Amino acid sequence: MSPPVAHDPALRTTPPAAPAVTVRPTVARVDTSVLAHNLAVVTQHVGSGCRVLAVVKADGYGHGATEAARAFEAAGAWGLAVSLVEEGVELREAGVHGPVVVLGGVPPGAADVLVHRRLRPVVWSVDHLQMLSAAVLRAGAHALPVHLKIDTGMSRLGLLPRDLTPVLDWIAADAGRTLQLEGVMTHLACADEIDDELTSARQLASFGDCLGTIAARGLQPQLRHASNSAAMVRFRSAHFDMVRPGIALYGAASGAAVELPGLRLAMSVHARVLGIRELPAGVRVSYGGRAQLRRDSRLAIVPVGYGDGYPRAMSGHAQMLVRGHRCDVVGTITMDVCMLDVTDLPGVRVGEEVTLLGRQGLGAIDLYELAGWAGTVPYEITCGISKRVPRRYDGG
Ligand SMILES: Cc1ncc(COP(=O)(O)O)c(C=O)c1O
Repeated sequence: MSPPVAHDPALRTTPPAAPAVTVRPTVARVDTSVLAHNLAVVTQHVGSGCRVLAVVKADGYGHGATEAARAFEAAGAWGLAVSLVEEGVELREAGVHGPVVVLGGVPPGAADVLVHRRLRPVVWSVDHLQMLSAAVLRAGAHALPVHLKIDTGMSRLGLLPRDLTPVLDWIAADAGRTLQLEGVMTHLACADEIDDELTSARQLASFGDCLGTIAARGLQPQLRHASNSAAMVRFRSAHFDMVRPGIALYGAASGAAVELPGLRLAMSVHARVLGIRELPAGVRVSYGGRAQLRRDSRLAIVPVGYGDGYPRAMSGHAQMLVRGHRCDVVGTITMDVCMLDVTDLPGVRVGEEVTLLGRQGLGAIDLYELAGWAGTVPYEITCGISKRVPRRYDGG
């Protein structure tokens, strides 16, 4: 028999109103006024005739979907885009009442909730239309706006141009009774491939043909849209009635070459020194002993690791800012902790601020740099900052 579990008797006597635990010094700060500023930069770029569908999927690219949604709505976005039905429901429950487009299609069982929450699904099959129409009838609801997605070359979501006819037949026969064809959209596969204009040009030509076919059926979707952030920056002809930026609104781009001038990074990530180690030259540091100290060193323990979304793949490349100066991360990044070489900054103490992303004093580490160290794209960095890093909102 296993021995009884040894309960800590003190736990039984803990007062009911124990103080909240807010000691973790590692935080992601999100400036909502910067989100609003970025929306204004985008709005100015596309001009007043073009609407903005602000993409807040994946928890607003890690910034917090609800907070980002509120900031973009207040700054004049036409609506918000999410990937999942659940993400749309989260926005509704947080009191977001404006248009929410669900990019990820209509999974089996989703139609009733889409109708109930008045979420605008992206559709690409007669099956989708039938499921939604039946749900509208069941609910006795008004016609639900939908956005038809055409796969012009991404080979992911959407229907091929050659398969348009049965879908258009269905929509024409419904005549707006249960579903309203509000939007028609496509997505460009190579908008951020700076050397490739041809693929996008082909996709846009195909999209143009499809719009012609749709118009010829007498259907008049008000919102034609094709541009993510990179397409919005590179191809004015891809703006149509609405653009769908995500990463631009958070202050970045898939790569520096397609960044819209004037954007500002909305997120910064900070920690505080947890401890200082004085270690002699020759000592090996962290898992695998991969880093060997070349000099007597002072290493700061920084309570951040891949469990927080600071990728292990950056081991050997990463730097952080202390007092505005760059310091090298030494050895393997572990789940909870990194070791930072502060030998050249005399007197660094427990509790001093360390910046992983963003500005500190005269120094700055941007998203492209972090993504480069990790061998990934900026999106994966912000989306990857994990739940155990509290988000702190500034900016009103
Ligand atoms: C269909 C669609 N539109 C727009 C976006 C926004 O892309 P970006 O963040 O590159 O602007 C995405 C994001 O992946 C998407 O899937």
